[in-house]
Amino acid sequence: MTAQLTLALSKGRIFEETLPLLEAAGIRVTEDPEKSRKLILATNDPGVRVIIVRASDVPTYVQYGAADFGVAGKDVLYEHGGEGLYQPIDLNIAKCRVSVAVSAGFDYENAVRQGARLRVATKYTETARQHFASKGVHVDLIKLYGSMELAPLVGLSDAIVDLVSTGNTLRANNLVEVEHIMDISSRLVVNQAALKLKRERLQPIMDAFERASRLKAST
Ligand code: ATP
Ligand code: PRP
Repeated sequence: MTAQLTLALSKGRIFEETLPLLEAAGIRVTEDPEKSRKLILATNDPGVRVIIVRASDVPTYVQYGAADFGVAGKDVLYEHGGEGLYQPIDLNIAKCRVSVAVSAGFDYENAVRQGARLRVATKYTETARQHFASKGVHVDLIKLYGSMELAPLVGLSDAIVDLVSTGNTLRANNLVEVEHIMDISSRLVVNQAALKLKRERLQPIMDAFERASRLKAST
């Protein structure tokens, strides 16, 4: 009997951008997560199913083996720590960056130079903690789960650490990017035990993902 594979994806951009990679491996998801409330989706391959989880939960499902493999942003993986995960491929999808942003008019350089404690609102507390520690800047981190751009506008924080792609969200809220912390793209993550026990099934899919993402990177 061939092993069943479970792939963890999040709805939205990661699901959409992973579909062409799955196609390259001959796998088509037969249900649309935007239309269905189902969390376990079938594919044309009876040996492969997709589970729909929150973007930040993908590493957890894969770490514990509830999913054999998944797709997660480097931002999410950095926060998770990567324990129990093999990360073989940069898929070159969902590209953006993690940055520090402040309200236009806030003198960030001066605030940092003066050594006052900076209040920083973010969902990415580990990334922010390491970034400011490496610069020797003292920060009070305020954990948020979304809409970070609002925090400086209503006096919750001096700065935010958040994802930036086009910069439209920052501009729409009169914020400016003052530091680029790291470039982000999504990675294939594989459960370390599954990699050994289900290698025969996983390897051709990993190879197809690798080829398709290399092609994408070169275009
Ligand atoms: P959660 O539901 O866990 O809070 P989320 O709402 O951040 O996650 P998405 O918005 O779908 O989930 O983002 C998934 C991943 O896509 C992020 O972890 C990041 O790597 C990437 N990403 C987020 N925003 C952008 C963007 N504007 N442009 C490109 N990639 C992005
Ligand atoms: C992400 C991120 C930023 C925005 C940046 O939000 O949290 O708010 O994209 O992209 P931009 O620079 O192109 O404007 P997203 O659109 O995923 O909304 P959500 O996190 O609230 O789902």
